[in-house]
Amino acid sequence: MDTKNLKIKILGIAGTPIKNGNCQYQLQEALKLAESTGQAITELIHLGDYKIKFCIGCDKCLRKVHKIQAEAGFNVSPVPVKEYNCSIKDGMQELHQKMLDADAIILMAPVYIASIPGQVKTFIDRCRTFVHDFRLQDKVAMAMTIGFFRNAGQDTALDLMRTSLSALGLNVVSYGSAAVSTKEGLGIPIRETRFAVKEDFAGAVMMDLAIKKLVRTGMHIKAGKMVLEK
Ligand SMILES: Cc1cc2nc3c(=O)[nH]c(=O)nc-3n(C[C@H](O)[C@H](O)[C@H](O)COP(=O)(O)O)c2cc1C
Repeated sequence: MDTKNLKIKILGIAGTPIKNGNCQYQLQEALKLAESTGQAITELIHLGDYKIKFCIGCDKCLRKVHKIQAEAGFNVSPVPVKEYNCSIKDGMQELHQKMLDADAIILMAPVYIASIPGQVKTFIDRCRTFVHDFRLQDKVAMAMTIGFFRNAGQDTALDLMRTSLSALGLNVVSYGSAAVSTKEGLGIPIRETRFAVKEDFAGAVMMDLAIKKLVRTGMHIKAGKMVLEK
């Protein structure tokens, strides 16, 4: 089997209401790094471009998954869910498909009050089907964050995202990437630039390590799967 031209597809999700901010800049850099390995193609999407309503807890996705499992057998994994199975028809329909089409997912969110922005949590809640249908089980994932301060919620934001991605069945392959958008993470914006993250060397090193691990593990899973399925 020839794996020489094998590449993984990485979906970068910018979970911020701000376009052209530090989060977008850093996520773009991460995707460029991934592409520079020659082993990845990438796509960046903004959650803000999608209408995403709150999960209403109707359990419809769950009931559909259980019905399909009952027909296909409870040992079948992933559960062969063929159609969008959420009762709410909005931007999540396209987002589910993009996640299913990717080999790797990067979730980027700024630190908001020592946590993640509400729209990111809403997006995660609306992915509940994946917890039960295992359709993301052979994909890798990592989390990225940016805050004003080096130590004011970045660990909590990363922890929330890593745990959530893992609960969705993804293989979270690294601690993640944290950076600051103020000079030396002291909380004082750099007047000359909106993109202070560009000057965060520590953040760039952390991102570099995390991205290389994501591509490497993503490639191993994809190649391994191809071998096993042959
Ligand atoms: C509502 C709100 C809450 C924030 N809370 C924190 C915080 O708790 N800790 C922190 O380090 N930065 C905090 N920030 C700063 C952002 O994380 C920071 O500005 C980040 O660079 C935003 O990304 P952007 O440049 O893409 O907009 C907060 C910003 C907003 C708007």
